[in-house]
Amino acid sequence: MAAITIEKIEKSFGATPVLGGVSLEIADGEFLTLLGPSGCGKSTLLRILAGLEVQTGGSIAIGERVVDGVRPKRRDVAMVFQSYALYPHMTVQENMAVPLRMRRLSAWQRLPLIGRLLPGTKAVVADIEKDVMRTAKALGIGHLLGRKPGQLSGGQRQRVAVGRAMVRQPAVFLMDEPLSNLDAKLRVQMRAEIKELHNRLGVTFVYVTHDQSEAMTMSDRVAVMLDGELLQVAAPQEIYADPDDRRVAEFIGSPKINMLEARARDGGLAETAGTSFSVPGNVASGTGLALGIRPEAFHLVEAGGHNILTGAVRMVEHMGSDLYVHLDVPGTDNPVIARLLAERAPQISSGQTLHLGVKPERLLLFAADGRRLRPHDPASATVLRMKERSQ
Ligand SMILES: Nc1ncnc2c1ncn2[C@@H]1O[C@H](COP(=O)(O)OP(=O)(O)O)[C@@H](O)[C@H]1O
Ligand SMILES: [Mg+2]
Repeated sequence: MAAITIEKIEKSFGATPVLGGVSLEIADGEFLTLLGPSGCGKSTLLRILAGLEVQTGGSIAIGERVVDGVRPKRRDVAMVFQSYALYPHMTVQENMAVPLRMRRLSAWQRLPLIGRLLPGTKAVVADIEKDVMRTAKALGIGHLLGRKPGQLSGGQRQRVAVGRAMVRQPAVFLMDEPLSNLDAKLRVQMRAEIKELHNRLGVTFVYVTHDQSEAMTMSDRVAVMLDGELLQVAAPQEIYADPDDRRVAEFIGSPKINMLEARARDGGLAETAGTSFSVPGNVASGTGLALGIRPEAFHLVEAGGHNILTGAVRMVEHMGSDLYVHLDVPGTDNPVIARLLAERAPQISSGQTLHLGVKPERLLLFAADGRRLRPHDPASATVLRMKERSQ
């Protein structure tokens, strides 16, 4: 088992910077997900962890050991690729045995014909077969050992790829979008299987995906990545409810968070979309702000006014227990989307005027540069008081 320390990792391909100094501590046994849009540098970071790519700057430690310059084979990590990278001409048994043969047999012993005659080969091969069988059974693919990858379904291939990574009991599992080639239903099922595998093995998992629901359902912590930079690393619920940055708030959540451009006014007010909201703290009057409101933070109220958005219904999406109501609110660029409980919402139809209230604690306030503003953060209040006392 092993913790991972990633320190100021930089990577450029030629003159193009891809990672801009990424630092991250991953705990022993943790399930950490790197989440971000395609092209943000997730695979590059994972490949550097695996030793398949060399960083331009910074350092990686796995367990107590700094592994910069250590070859992939010697890092005690195993990687599952998006493509699975199975050998098509080999059986499942042979595919799964590859990592063990590479480690336990010498180059001579691995030779097709002569190898088998060399002293010791037979016993090692028998051990390898036993280990492959044990892993295959644990993954429910024991009956597939004689087949070739072409004779397997997508889900079975995925299990074989995981099995090949598991068979030599690595301290760290690296998984790069391992579910993206599966259909939607299987993806949800395999999510649960991978999570269960993590619980069972108790080793460190670093999982890469661009799919926020994968990240949110499987991870102990999620590291949100954009343009080669980590924006926030926290538990899924915290990333969703308490984002540090406007870009995090906008990337996580479906339907997307509503973002209203606003202007601060005296008396703790922010003006936007023909109304005003109470916002915490003292933001200088005239300052540009953004108000983030999650679709489910709205509730229906009878009339317009302070802390209430008013607009005309453009469209209603029926989602079973929920309704997504798209509202044209004068003074906003995009429709506002509210998620209402179907049973609480009376017949709503297009063109109708609706009033949506928001509880003040559900407003997320962002500065013009995208930073989250938390003026009532108890920690910062304490710091302020301590400063006053020391003066
Ligand atoms: N071997 C390479 N040579 C040049 N550019 C690369 C190479 N690998 C990745 N890149 C570039 O680095 C950026 C990040 O890629 P990648 O880490 O694969 O992103 P992600 O996995 O988040 O989609 C992309 O712009 C990609 O084109
Ligand atoms: Mg990738």
